[in-house]
Amino acid sequence: MAKVTVVGAGNVGATVADVLAYREVANEVVLLDIKEGVAEGKALDIFQKSPVTMYDTRTVGATNDYSKTANSDVVVITSGLPRKPGMTRDDLIGVNSGIVKSVVEQVVKYSPKAILIIVSNPLDVMTYQAHLTSKFPRNRVIGMAGVLDTARYKAFIAEALNVSVKDVQAQLLGGHGDTMVPLPRYTNVGGIPVTELLPKKKLDAIVERTKNGGGELVKLMGTSAWYAPGASAAAMVEAIIKDQKRVFPCCVKLEGEYGIDDCYLGVPVVLGKKGAEKVLKLKLTKEENELLQTSRKHVLEVMAVLQK
Ligand code: NAI
Ligand code: 2OP
Repeated sequence: MAKVTVVGAGNVGATVADVLAYREVANEVVLLDIKEGVAEGKALDIFQKSPVTMYDTRTVGATNDYSKTANSDVVVITSGLPRKPGMTRDDLIGVNSGIVKSVVEQVVKYSPKAILIIVSNPLDVMTYQAHLTSKFPRNRVIGMAGVLDTARYKAFIAEALNVSVKDVQAQLLGGHGDTMVPLPRYTNVGGIPVTELLPKKKLDAIVERTKNGGGELVKLMGTSAWYAPGASAAAMVEAIIKDQKRVFPCCVKLEGEYGIDDCYLGVPVVLGKKGAEKVLKLKLTKEENELLQTSRKHVLEVMAVLQK
């Protein structure tokens, strides 16, 4: 009997709940928001879809009533403001750190053993905020960014080569932002290194588009994306609930891996029933390591804003 709570019933949160229900990842999915009736309405709508698309997951809504979230195995936190055109993810820190802090305080009261998946931006620093508030160990506080960023990267590669997205494998390091580090050296298509299939110029252009992938969508829609982000967070929940040991790029607290021990950053992680069960270490070239250090520096700068 698995129970998952999704806090924030906006674009991303409702999508997470919908995907979790459709894939029958949990028996019960609780959707919670501060806006009166919104979470209840969306949960009811998702429940009423179940006889059509055939799933048995029960979706329950709550307006700020955390007792309904009690004893959740996994809690996904999507509450907070999204970006508007012209904003960076870091512009959101003032408002979102307060929201994430107050939400995590409530969540841990009712689900002290839960694994937390953070989605709110700026992602790496909000994951750090969740760690500070919950005091949970690093395996139980995980940020979602790399699954989404690699999804964008894989989609662009599949499109460029006219191959199935299912055959594209990729890894990515660093923070969720313009300093993220996609790794062409660790990207393959049906086992063939992508560097043998695409010219460097094309691959560089794909890497750049990936880095700006979130911004591209904000520009188009006036707010940030939700289908791919929601599905990405749901895939992480599924890996944990089903103890799948999936290897996903996730934002975790580094404890000396990659020579870093002072921040949360995206790295390849094994996700299973204990959460982030293991951080996988890659041998990086000098250039890749420099990019990772630049990303670390950027996350530390945003962390400093939070500490103020
Ligand atoms: P949205 O505005 O559609 O939904 C946010 C929801 O949070 C709203 O319904 C709002 O009422 C709720 N909320 C605000 N304060 C709350 C509180 N104290 N308790 C409970 N609920 C509260 O925004 P959207 O598009 O769903 O994005 C949510 C967050 O996720 C944003 O910060 C966005 O930047 C971030 N994001 C992160 C991604 C990633 O890759 N990590 C990808 C996409 C979005
Ligand atoms: C994204 O990358 C806004 O972080 C969000 O779409």
